[in-house]
Amino acid sequence: MRDLLPDNRPLLILAPMQDITDLAFWRVLSRYGGPDVYYTEYFRVHRDSRPEKYILRSIDENPNGKPIIAQMIGQDVEALQRTAIELQKRKIVGIDLNFGCPAPIVCRKDAGGGLFRHPEKIDAILREVRASVHLKLTVKTRIGFDSPEEFPQLLDLFRRHPIDALTVHGRTVREMYKPLVHYDAIERAARLMPCPVFANGNVRCIDSARQVIKTTGASGLMIGRGAIRNPWLFQQIREAWSGELRTQPTLANVREYIEYLHEETRQPGLRDESHVGKMKKYLGFIAPGLGEDNAFWKEIRPTLSLRELFAVCDRHLNTPDPFLPAQPLER
Ligand SMILES: Cc1cc2nc3c(=O)[nH]c(=O)nc-3n(C[C@H](O)[C@H](O)[C@H](O)COP(=O)(O)O)c2cc1C
Repeated sequence: MRDLLPDNRPLLILAPMQDITDLAFWRVLSRYGGPDVYYTEYFRVHRDSRPEKYILRSIDENPNGKPIIAQMIGQDVEALQRTAIELQKRKIVGIDLNFGCPAPIVCRKDAGGGLFRHPEKIDAILREVRASVHLKLTVKTRIGFDSPEEFPQLLDLFRRHPIDALTVHGRTVREMYKPLVHYDAIERAARLMPCPVFANGNVRCIDSARQVIKTTGASGLMIGRGAIRNPWLFQQIREAWSGELRTQPTLANVREYIEYLHEETRQPGLRDESHVGKMKKYLGFIAPGLGEDNAFWKEIRPTLSLRELFAVCDRHLNTPDPFLPAQPLER
């Protein structure tokens, strides 16, 4: 992964987010410069699985020309090996293993964050999948299941394997998406791992990007919700690091961004109501802090048609006022 690291600033990576960071979203993001590296949503891997066609499409139709890493989630070693071999036939630069998804249905199957209860399984997956991956092999992890105190042992485990990068989302599985991020754990990883470490959790503006890099010493930033909220964020971080911040979007620019999301997610046969549902997935992340007392989201939520939805956008966003995206990410 070192070959992808820029000289004078952190590597910028779009976090994998199921049902969000799909081909449509990648297309929109690439209009704004986008990140340096894109991670796919996770491929669900089990004994009888085949790689999901809609995720393969994002790889095959890569709209941004930037490197893609394909993420897998699962705990069946042979199935992970088989899938890794298959995915490597596509235009990707690496495979990522998801050790951290907190969804109860995933953890109950001992996949994602559930693997933290079975370190021997993590060990076997890393050993066997590494043997099948000739491209980069990266890991995305949380810092434990119940407590951050589990992290030093987890790190020891990761250190034993020649992975190419480790992304640390600085929360335990139990902490889900609570506001606190344990940046000290990410700092420990950046200090002790022989490979590049990428910091993940709550980066939503230039100030938090600077702060996270300063406190963790990480080689890169993986950004999720902050990039849905503010698609200019990657470009703004690049500009901030080069000493000249030029990109300062207005609320009218946010209105235009929502229009792009609408255009890219349009599909033949997609009913208005379903399209509204898809748009609300994005808007739920864009909305926090917009309007007095979250007024924007409160008005968007009950809308049932695109006409109503865009009427709310027009009411709140047809103005040249600056867009200030630094509010907390939680609604
Ligand atoms: C809607 C949603 C879907 C997600 N899907 C995935 C996923 O498929 N794989 C994964 O590793 N993490 C997934 N995550 C976690 C994010 O990649 C990221 O670790 C988390 O949101 C923290 O980063 P942020 O504060 O920058 O959003 C998801 C998060 C959200 C909010």
